[in-house]
This record gives sequence, C-alpha cells and structure tokens, in this order.
Amino acid sequence: MKLGFIGVGNISSDVVTGICNSKISFKKIFLSPRNKKKSHILKKKFKNKIYVTKTNQEVIDKSDWVFIGVLPEVGEKIIPQLKFKSNQIVVSFISTIEYFKLKKILKKKTNVVRAIPMPPIALGKGPVAIFPPHKKVKFFFDKIGDTIEIKSEKLSQTFWATSGTMSSFYEMLKTLSDWLVKKGLTRLQAQKYVTSLYSALAELAAVNSKKDLKHFVAESQTPGGLNWQGVNELRKAGYYKSLEKSINNILKRLKNN
Ligand SMILES: NC(=O)c1ccc[n+]([C@@H]2O[C@H](COP(=O)([O-])OP(=O)(O)OC[C@H]3O[C@@H](n4cnc5c(N)ncnc54)[C@H](OP(=O)(O)O)[C@@H]3O)[C@@H](O)[C@H]2O)c1
Repeated sequence: MKLGFIGVGNISSDVVTGICNSKISFKKIFLSPRNKKKSHILKKKFKNKIYVTKTNQEVIDKSDWVFIGVLPEVGEKIIPQLKFKSNQIVVSFISTIEYFKLKKILKKKTNVVRAIPMPPIALGKGPVAIFPPHKKVKFFFDKIGDTIEIKSEKLSQTFWATSGTMSSFYEMLKTLSDWLVKKGLTRLQAQKYVTSLYSALAELAAVNSKKDLKHFVAESQTPGGLNWQGVNELRKAGYYKSLEKSINNILKRLKNN
C-alpha cells in the first residue's frame, strides 16, 4: 500500500513518524513539498520509505490512500483543484471542513473519512476519533493509537473541543514543575516527577477504563487527607467549572465555523 500526505505540518509529521515506527505494512510514503523543511527531516529520518513529490497532485497520483493535513482555509483553496482517484481512501485531518462538504469538493467517488489524530500518535499512542466509521481506516489507526469510531458528525465536534484542552493540560504540568523548581528541585527532576506521575495516573485509569472516573476521584483521596484538600480547594475555587466553561466555549466556536 502506498500512502500520501498533502500538507506536512505538525500533525502529518507525527502521523508519518508513528506509521514509520509501527508494524503497518506499506510500500512508500509520498509527501507533498510543503513544508519543505519538515518533509526533508522525515526523509532523512526514514530514508528509503519516504519520497518527497514535486506537487500535491503527484501525491494523489502515486498513492492508494491520501491524508490531508492542511489548515482549513488552505484546504478550501487547494482541494477543489486536485484530481482524486475513484475509490481512493482520503483521510482528512482538517478541523472544520465537514464530511458532506469534503465529499462535494472532492467530486470523485472517494472514500472520505475525517480523523482527529493527536501528537502522541508519533509514539504510536493516543486516541484517533474518526467519522464516519470505516473498517479499514480503523484497523490502520489501531496500529498507531486507539481508534474511536463516531456515528454522528455533530459528536465529532465534541472530540475537537476536548482536544482543545491539550495546551491547558501542559500548562498545568508546567505550573507544577515550575513550583517544584522554585522549591529547589532541578528542572530535570521536577519535570521527570510531574510527567511520570501524570502519565502513570492516566495509564492506570486507561487500563481500568471500565471503571467510571468518579471512582478514581474517590479512591485517590481519604477524608481530610492531602488529595481531599487539593480537589476540594480547586472545586471551591471554580477550577473544574472553568474547565467545563472553556470546553463549551471551544465547542461554540466550532459550531459557528
Ligand atoms: N496539530 C494537531 O494536533 C492537530 C490534530 C488533529 C488535526 N489537526 C488539523 O490538521 C490540520 C493541520 O494542522 P497542523 O497543526 O499540522 O498545521 P501546520 O503545522 O500549520 O501544517 C499545515 C501544513 O500545510 C502546509 N501547506 C500550506 N499550504 C499548502 C499547500 N498549498 N499545499 C500543501 N501544503 C500546504 C504548510 O506548509 P508551510 O509551512 O510551507 O506553509 C504546513 O506544513 C489542521 O486543519 C488542524 O486543525 C491538527
């Protein structure tokens, strides 16, 4: 199978890295010339697996599956000018171009799937929400993450909104790490402690995902204990309400697009 990427920015680079380090069987990956620097870094890293094309059209002509990783305004401009092959699988990472609009501008009878990969896909980890459900695409992403098939496009916006909390999560880790540094730890020690703690906590909840998260909230504290104090102080300060408000605002923005 030959894979192609139009738009080689942050997320496409992460997906290509994930694929190249995985057990996915493919013959070659064709990358569009933009971004030149990122394409060449990937080519250098994965040598004979990667080929940088001269045009976006060349990516489509040479590939069985085409992934589109450009910003929405770029997608609106370039996709109508490209000629896709009938029955080609086209996976769009574009945040705001909806399924039916994509189908319309792609013209041909392509298999279109919208996907939301996240940066840890470079490590072969993390969720990939896809719409509409698609067996082959799910099988593919399951090798480099956890695919979640969504049945309604409206629901996919809630995944986009949740993914908009990535930076605030890192900001929280940074706050904790900066605090430890102020208290005398080295930056390396502080960062190692914080990232190891939170990735382990998330992993514990993930491997026990049949358990409602409220059990983890309850089990991780004892009345009057340190965690009890921590969670209650933040609740009182409106920390979690602010988080919910922020996701609602992100969702509103997506709906108005
Ligand atoms: N980043 C994420 O975590 C993430 C996750 C899921 C989905 N997405 C979605 O994926 C899309 C890309 O996001 P991103 O963060 O990867 O953005 P990005 O880093 O800005 O990447 C966009 C890429 O498109 C290239 N490009 C611009 N014009 C082009 C053209 N005419 N033909 C081909 N390529 C062109 C840019 O090249 P130049 O640098 O040369 O301009 C750039 O490399 C967005 O719609 C975003 O919403 C992102």
